[in-house]
Amino acid sequence: MAHVAFVALLFLLLVGHCLGGKVGICYGRNADDLPAPDKVVQLIQQQSLKYVAHLRHQHYDTNIDVIKAFANTGVELMVGVPNSDLLPFAQYQSNVDTWLKNSILPYYPATMITYITVGAEVTESPVNVSALVVPAMRNVHTALKKAGLHKKITISSTHSLGILSRSFPPSAGAFNSSYAYFLKPMLEFLVENQAPFMVDLYPYYAYQNSPSNVSLNYALFSPQSQDVIDPNTGLVYTNMFDAQIDSIFFALMALNFKTLKIMVTETGWPNKGAAKETGATPDNAQTYNTNLIRHVVNDSGTPAKPGEEIDVYIFSLFNENRKPGIESERNWGLFFPDQSSIYSLDWTGRGNVDIMTGGNITNANGTWCVASANASETDLQNGLNWACGPGNVDCSAIQPSQPCYQPDTLASHASYAFNSYYQQNGANDVACDFGGTGVRTTKDPSYDTCVYMAAGSKMSTTNSSNLPVQSGFSPSRFDKNFYLLFSMLPIMIAACIV
Ligand SMILES: *[C@@H]1O[C@H](CO)[C@@H](O)[C@H](O)[C@H]1NC(C)=O
Ligand SMILES: *[C@@H]1O[C@H](CO)[C@@H](O)[C@H](O)[C@H]1NC(C)=O
Ligand SMILES: *[C@@H]1O[C@H](CO)[C@@H](O)[C@H](O)[C@H]1NC(C)=O
Ligand SMILES: *[C@@H]1O[C@H](CO)[C@@H](O)[C@H](O)[C@H]1NC(C)=O
Ligand SMILES: *[C@@H]1O[C@H](CO)[C@@H](O)[C@H](O)[C@H]1NC(C)=O
Ligand SMILES: *[C@@H]1O[C@H](CO)[C@@H](O)[C@H](O)[C@H]1NC(C)=O
Ligand SMILES: *[C@@H]1O[C@H](CO)[C@@H](O)[C@H](O)[C@H]1NC(C)=O
Ligand SMILES: *[C@@H]1O[C@H](CO)[C@@H](O)[C@H](O)[C@H]1NC(C)=O
Repeated sequence: MAHVAFVALLFLLLVGHCLGGKVGICYGRNADDLPAPDKVVQLIQQQSLKYVAHLRHQHYDTNIDVIKAFANTGVELMVGVPNSDLLPFAQYQSNVDTWLKNSILPYYPATMITYITVGAEVTESPVNVSALVVPAMRNVHTALKKAGLHKKITISSTHSLGILSRSFPPSAGAFNSSYAYFLKPMLEFLVENQAPFMVDLYPYYAYQNSPSNVSLNYALFSPQSQDVIDPNTGLVYTNMFDAQIDSIFFALMALNFKTLKIMVTETGWPNKGAAKETGATPDNAQTYNTNLIRHVVNDSGTPAKPGEEIDVYIFSLFNENRKPGIESERNWGLFFPDQSSIYSLDWTGRGNVDIMTGGNITNANGTWCVASANASETDLQNGLNWACGPGNVDCSAIQPSQPCYQPDTLASHASYAFNSYYQQNGANDVACDFGGTGVRTTKDPSYDTCVYMAAGSKMSTTNSSNLPVQSGFSPSRFDKNFYLLFSMLPIMIAACIV
């Protein structure tokens, strides 16, 4: 029992501090019906969220209530200087000094402000303020330095993908040269100060504006999506989000800024839209955000930078009724203003079964999960679809010519998929349910070269490098990081503790 507790403790440490990019939430307030900031803080804490971005607001004074509300919560807060303040911030150092003194210092460090963004998507601003951003950033830096905080609070600025002139294929990603006059000095500033390049990414718009070129599955990270291959690099893209990040990465490389980290300050999916916005549904929003969180927590990285940690902020906490524009604009929230949730989200990024509470990781030695002999075909098919889809199991081994394809029966394929899901999700009976069609066994179902995953096994039955790219059922994605997580657990624990 002591062992179990010890392993559980290590696992908690690992999950809490060492594992994965950070997932935060954007707290926008362009609405007239939202709860007071202190109520919002409670909601955020109930969700165990640790990172909050409060960037979009009209004028710098209006966010003091928010900054105050996060005092002594342990939540890390990112705050923003709006575009409307760039002129005074760029003009006079004293303006910035005064702002820092009145709006930040009184509440710091009780409120853990970790980032200040100076300007938001200036390339989209109706008023041309681009030339002011870098001078304003420098003045904020000077003010922070005088206060001794320039090493504690990171300064950057957010961008839309519209800062690129090309984003496809990702390897051809290039910044629009009309922005070079402010972009180059900004990138230099970011390098000098070890700050990330911040970008707001919306695969939703890519899909909505061009549903014939961008499939919904691709935009939603669905395993059923048709992969997209970058002809210049041969890199295989299974989702739009990665392709967008890599287009930024290649654009930075082209300017020789390849060491800059990329941070996603906004991304998400609307839960409702106008009649023609058919993609805007709670289901799609849940799918996008669920898959996004898994992707990030799991340090999947992108094809150009596998394993790279990427921090993301999900847009947005609430539906915001005062935002102008099409219907979806007002419906990006996870919550209604009355704080009821629009759909649920697993912030741990580990599927439906919570490993930390449900799992008995050490107890899984020598148990497997297979399809019950008397289950109906329909139920098995549903279970198989689920495991290889939302369940995020690597089903490449049961594709034609792969080691577990034969015998080509539903029961055999389902057994393989059920077991992988079971082993990945704590190997308890909940993880072997599949609507009553899964049964646990102590007999290893592996045969010939078809190796069934076992607890702690290294698990590599397929050679991902020579798999064909395909779409349709039988996902061709290689969901291997979870195996890696388990096989590398001892190393990662050691790294965390040292
Ligand atoms: C914005 O202003 C800068 C400098 O003031 C100028 O170089 C740039 O061309 C302007 N951009 C647009 C789109 O007008
Ligand atoms: C580059 O930016 C300029 C100024 O905003 C814009 O007019 C032009 O269309 C952009 N070019 C591309 C290829 O996006
Ligand atoms: C969609 O793809 C077609 C054919 O490849 C291309 O001509 C068109 O420009 C694309 N449309 C958009 C909006 O990307
Ligand atoms: C967890 O493992 C221990 C030790 O093997 C066992 O006694 C206990 O019943 C298991 N708990 C669950 C929920 O499986
Ligand atoms: C688990 O299985 C491995 C290999 O079969 C064995 O070496 C190990 O002792 C087992 N652990 C437990 C807790 O049974
Ligand atoms: C399937 O068979 C097992 C015994 O092998 C039995 O316990 C179970 O009730 C059966 N399930 C169904 C749905 O018939
Ligand atoms: C993977 O492919 C390589 C070369 O194609 C081969 O040498 C290796 O044995 C394969 N591994 C497995 C597990 O099939
Ligand atoms: C971990 O990352 C890989 C991509 O490298 C992904 O395919 C897999 O689904 C992720 N695992 C989970 C459990 O989400």
